[in-house]
Amino acid sequence: MTRLSVNINKVALIRNSRGQNLPDLRKVASDCESFGAQGITVHPRPDERHIRYADLPILKEVVTTEFNIEGYPSEKFIQTVCQVKPHQVTLVPDPPGVLTSNEGWDTIGQQKMLIPVIQKFKDQGIRVSLFLNAEESLVEAAKDTGTDRIEFYTGKYAQEFPEDPKKAIQKHVNAAKLAAKLGLGINAGHDLNLENLKYYAQNIPNLDEVSIGHAIVCDALYYGLKSTILMYRSLLK
Ligand code: PXP
Repeated sequence: MTRLSVNINKVALIRNSRGQNLPDLRKVASDCESFGAQGITVHPRPDERHIRYADLPILKEVVTTEFNIEGYPSEKFIQTVCQVKPHQVTLVPDPPGVLTSNEGWDTIGQQKMLIPVIQKFKDQGIRVSLFLNAEESLVEAAKDTGTDRIEFYTGKYAQEFPEDPKKAIQKHVNAAKLAAKLGLGINAGHDLNLENLKYYAQNIPNLDEVSIGHAIVCDALYYGLKSTILMYRSLLK
């Protein structure tokens, strides 16, 4: 069964907008878990506009399911993640000013840089996942970096899904088949929502985990956080 990791970046954005501690991320993370989240994901960015580096050790203390930290492997990021020791780190090739992650690693061109970085995390017992566009050549090269998993970037899938779901998912199906053959775990994320999640999970063999943030927070405005998480969980069964 595919696990649901809830990304709470957008909740941190609301907290930061008033300069106090409301909502309290510790409570939100624990509540998400009690409502059915099987993991909590955060993505500190260089400007700390939502999750702050200071949040990481605090969240590590309260998360009882699986803690996943995403981000670009700057020196500061590597050092902090190795100290906090989440269950998983997801490496993302974000340039500093980007609004949101909108493409995966070039695992062919950046393989040399990625290999020692991935090894550092693995030496600390942290599972590593690489954010990747759904291309077979990139999956093949990802295998040689030593990563445990890959996370498919699903933004393009989400964009194309309403028009032609079968066409939208085809590259993901092919890339996922290859990943499974190579022994790589498969995660997915970005712009997954109540409309496109079920089709994605049904068509991707061995989908280990999805991490979803933006749509869950938007849906929670209408349905409440508990019902929203339960709705997403039911799509993954
Ligand atoms: N995966 C990665 C690597 C991301 O950067 C993000 C956004 O922070 C997500 C998943 C979640 O995307 P969304 O907020 O669109 O659900």
